[in-house]
Amino acid sequence: MKIGVIGSGNIGGSLGKHWAQAGHEVLFSSRHPERLNDIVREAGGNSRAVSVEKAFEENADVYLLAVPFKALDKIAELYAGEYGGKVIIDATNPYPERDGEKAQEVRDSNRNASEYTAMKFNTARTAKAFNTIYADHLKNRAFRDSDKLAVPYAAQDQESKETTRKLIEAIGFDAVYVGDLTQTKIMDPDQKIYGKSVNRQELEKLMS
Ligand SMILES: NC(=O)c1ccc[n+]([C@@H]2O[C@H](COP(=O)([O-])OP(=O)(O)OC[C@H]3O[C@@H](n4cnc5c(N)ncnc54)[C@H](OP(=O)(O)O)[C@@H]3O)[C@@H](O)[C@H]2O)c1
Repeated sequence: MKIGVIGSGNIGGSLGKHWAQAGHEVLFSSRHPERLNDIVREAGGNSRAVSVEKAFEENADVYLLAVPFKALDKIAELYAGEYGGKVIIDATNPYPERDGEKAQEVRDSNRNASEYTAMKFNTARTAKAFNTIYADHLKNRAFRDSDKLAVPYAAQDQESKETTRKLIEAIGFDAVYVGDLTQTKIMDPDQKIYGKSVNRQELEKLMS
């Protein structure tokens, strides 16, 4: 698959490197793609650093959102007006102390964070994944054959569900389906399965 990584820090950098290692083509992006040379070198394989605009122009199969929550609105404007139908995996979390008022509004609303993203990227097929895992565990506990960490995910439709499952499993985590985006409250900050580093069985117990 061709994967556009939007935001190449702790989360996007690690995931992009893992996917490159698994044989996927990876476009790393941020506001400063010229600072991403080290990541590209470490990722090896078929990877490049590009601007966010270029990542969308490049027509990837799937995009990962791994930016601070406050950056989503502008990125959605770049995407939603021009492109459509892509699978978008949302790994972001709203943190008012970092992301300001918008994050507080989403936290206080009835809407889950994933539903906010889906509303903004309304021409995409949105999935939620990798927002509940610690950056350190994402980096260091991938590619396990046994004792795998479970990664919960949710998705808007069948295509985003399948694509997200495959991309979780491709890098040695166990994909656990939560439901559609209306079910993702439990994945949001401070909720039931947020930040829980557990295996499938333990995760399913927490979810039941
Ligand atoms: N850290 C964790 O343990 C963790 C775990 C799960 C989920 N998350 C969530 O994942 C997201 C990313 O977290 P992180 O820890 O990876 O953050 P990070 O290390 O600070 O990386 C953020 C990345 O986004 C880029 N960026 C920032 N503003 C941007 C914009 N307006 N347009 C395009 N790119 C932009 C940054 O590069 P430039 O500044 O050069 O643009 C950087 O590459 C957050 O929403 C966070 O809540 C974090």
